[in-house]
Amino acid sequence: MTTSTASREISAAPHVSLTLDSLDLAETYDLLGTRQYEHGKILVRELRVRRGQHVLDVGCGTALLTKHVADLVGPTGRVVGIDPLPPRIEVARRRARDNLTVQVGRAEDLSAFADETFDVIFYNSVFHWLPDKPLALREAHRVLKKGGRLGISTAAKEQPHDSDNLLKLAFGERDASKHHILHKVTSSELALLLGRTGFSSRLIIRTFTDQFSGVDEIIAFNVASSFGNAFSALNAEQKARARETLDAAAAKYRNPDGVIVLRRHLIFAVAEKRPQ
Ligand SMILES: C[S@@+](CC[C@H](N)C(=O)[O-])C[C@H]1O[C@@H](n2cnc3c(N)ncnc32)[C@H](O)[C@@H]1O
Repeated sequence: MTTSTASREISAAPHVSLTLDSLDLAETYDLLGTRQYEHGKILVRELRVRRGQHVLDVGCGTALLTKHVADLVGPTGRVVGIDPLPPRIEVARRRARDNLTVQVGRAEDLSAFADETFDVIFYNSVFHWLPDKPLALREAHRVLKKGGRLGISTAAKEQPHDSDNLLKLAFGERDASKHHILHKVTSSELALLLGRTGFSSRLIIRTFTDQFSGVDEIIAFNVASSFGNAFSALNAEQKARARETLDAAAAKYRNPDGVIVLRRHLIFAVAEKRPQ
């Protein structure tokens, strides 16, 4: 597939709204987003973040992982977190300190930063939300130093999460996609996009297993992680019915203790900006 084919397919995906977030959802994400935080630490380890480095966290959310990176770069380093959602930045700002700043901003427009500013840039659980991935990658490439590293963890299109299969089981293939809108790519699409932008990359898929006490926790996690997009097409009555349908379908994923066990499959990409 060419880059233009990839962008055409990706932009044909349904619209992700950036207007449905709230302080309440951001605070819920800060509690339930420990799942993204845990795999984010693996991504950061693979990026070999060192003391004194200058790092950009794109789509930092409430800055749980940004703070971890600030500890790694230490007082001589610097981390900047950007996120398009003001409520996420409001919560993230509570973690700001001398070597950690956050600001509202989008992956597709890094004009706040000069060329070759950062040693490391990462998107942790963000890339599948971006409608224009080639533009975002070009911006990351521009603001990375030569030899700098880019890290991506993102849902693998070729290996659907159990939660995707649960939604399909509950609502059918067509309606499931209305409830959880992600612009996923496959590993080979991502490798191609990275190569065309001027990166050399290594990619692998890792599987994570999440446990949920019940469907209410699944719904809360998905709504907070999607900044209000999941289930947003439904009115209150439809939501109550959807909850019942989901609860029945979730029986397949319950362990003997009644806990719902769901696997997620994520592409981990570590890319390096090629010296021209
Ligand atoms: C699941 S959260 C991940 C947050 C954080 N990276 C973490 O690991 O906890 C997805 C984040 O992507 C951000 N996002 C969505 N569209 C974006 C865009 N166009 N540019 C940058 N970030 C975006 C959302 O605002 C949200 O905070």
